[in-house]
Amino acid sequence: MRGFEYYTPTKIYFGKDTHYKAGSIIKAGNHHKILVHYGGSSAEKSGLLDEVCNTLKEAGLEYILLGGVVPNPRLSKVREGIALCQKEQVDFILAVGGGSVIDSAKAIGYGTANPDTDVWDFFLKKAVPKACLPIGVILTIAASGSEMSGSCVITNEEGWLKRGSTRSDLCRPEFAILNPRLTYTLPQYQTESGCVDILMHTMERYFVNIETMEITDSISEALMQTVIYNARILMKEPGNYNARAEVMWAGSLSHNGLMECGTAGGDWACHQMEHELGGMFDVAHGAGLAAIWGSWARYVYTQNPERFAQFATNVFDIPYHADVEKTALAGIEAMEDFFRSIQMPTSLSELGLTLTDEDVHTLAFKCSFEDTRTIGAIMQLNLKDIEKIYQMAR
Ligand code: NZQ
Ligand code: ZN
Repeated sequence: MRGFEYYTPTKIYFGKDTHYKAGSIIKAGNHHKILVHYGGSSAEKSGLLDEVCNTLKEAGLEYILLGGVVPNPRLSKVREGIALCQKEQVDFILAVGGGSVIDSAKAIGYGTANPDTDVWDFFLKKAVPKACLPIGVILTIAASGSEMSGSCVITNEEGWLKRGSTRSDLCRPEFAILNPRLTYTLPQYQTESGCVDILMHTMERYFVNIETMEITDSISEALMQTVIYNARILMKEPGNYNARAEVMWAGSLSHNGLMECGTAGGDWACHQMEHELGGMFDVAHGAGLAAIWGSWARYVYTQNPERFAQFATNVFDIPYHADVEKTALAGIEAMEDFFRSIQMPTSLSELGLTLTDEDVHTLAFKCSFEDTRTIGAIMQLNLKDIEKIYQMAR
């Protein structure tokens, strides 16, 4: 096992009606001028936005609104937010939404607090942020884990590049309000896409080639089983509070660092490959991950078949055959069967994409940063490997 640092600075308020506390929490944090940041229409339609604004008013806080964040959040909206925060002297951003809104808020926080640097430079890794405006979250979809994570992912419309910032504690939210009821209005596709993302945040850290910690493995396997079980329930009962709650908390735990203690950070190749799909074709992140995971797994499992066999046995209760490879492959199939059972794609065509050879090459070229880097840890993948995996996933 590897040594690690573990730090989770985000205070969680979990349960029914918790969002009504937003005003008093922000007031207690000694913040004064708030940017309420949100997405397309769901928070307005459900009445959540009005409820949030009312709690801010009751706490005597000044606030301004900036909506219109789209999935795969755009750099242009981030720039609009930075200009607004500077003009209005905002000192706190409240993100009301999912990963896209939270990530947009984090990027605005970086841009506002580092006025001498172009915010995109943080995503090109040309510069390192020195500060970030404090952020709070009212989560409306269990998926990205951004409510507790130290990263954010933004899409630059120039070249359709989707890039993540370097991980930093600076952008980790001060608090996150997790009310499972706020996720009842999600379309089934988004609920299930979110469940895949949660699973993937654990799987990316689980499939490594080093000796791991038993405690981390056990927590990871329990988390995966919990998400699989409750994702199936939510197919039939979208208003099941307990299932929503289990998935919501799993989403935060999956990406707050707990699942990588002792695993040296994880693999992340599927995320890197999905980011190119999101940037070029604007697909839902979790669905994009489901579409490529099986192909990735079949390409790399021979590097550590025992690990894949452990996954098969401990997550899907598949008997450990004498033939380790057979067990490993059965686990990959079981995960793909699960994806199908929640109507998630297991190929790029099922994701709705018809890719030409040229598209595949462009995706791989961008993902390898124009053939200058490899991705992955269980197996390091170069441009040719990445291209082959996209081909297999077609
Ligand atoms: O815009 P609105 O109208 O709110 O609709 C959204 C959006 O269309 C809708 N939605 C959200 N809550 C809803 C709702 N609809 C009805 N009722 C509700 N309660 O759902 C759609 C998807 O929202 P989005 O925020 O895009 O989803 P998600 O949370 O999956 O975020 C995806 C983004 O997060 C990034 C992804 O790359 C992607 O850009 N990620 C961020 C990470 C991080 N910062 O740590 C890690 C992840 O791996 C991921 O990369
Ligand atoms: Zn993800």
